[in-house]
Amino acid sequence: MRTNVNGEWREADIWPGASLLTLLRDAFGLTGSKNACEQGECGSCSVWLDGELVCACLVLAAQAHDRQVRTVESVADGQRMSAVQDAFVEAGAVQCGFCTPGFVVAVTHLLAQDPNPNEVQVREALSGNICRCTGYAKILDAVTLAASRLREDR
Ligand code: FES
Ligand code: FES
Repeated sequence: MRTNVNGEWREADIWPGASLLTLLRDAFGLTGSKNACEQGECGSCSVWLDGELVCACLVLAAQAHDRQVRTVESVADGQRMSAVQDAFVEAGAVQCGFCTPGFVVAVTHLLAQDPNPNEVQVREALSGNICRCTGYAKILDAVTLAASRLREDR
């Protein structure tokens, strides 16, 4: 099968019943997307499939054939972190960091759609992402910080 990952066409010989998460991590070596629950509960494996946010653990690798996948590895600009990534670090929203790639993808997706979400909208958008460390307050601070920076840049 072949899939376009972060702008580059890649091929893999993989069991079609494997998940997109397995394809990304094991076949393509893109380990930014994390495997925490493998049942669509935690959001740590969030990626874009043809621009839509999905849990890579719930999508079959075969479903990504001839389609566009974007992962957390594409969020930074080379060595330069994105505004969302910077905000997570500055706000102290990262502890063990296992959930962070999923949050970064979800927040990046949210702010691309709505640059000025209110708190209810942020909580709703992040309701599929679980963090076991931070208590979420710092994550909400990071979203507010990233949103204000991105609005300033427009
Ligand atoms: S590993 Fe996919 S949602 Fe938890
Ligand atoms: S920072 Fe540890 S799970 Fe979120």
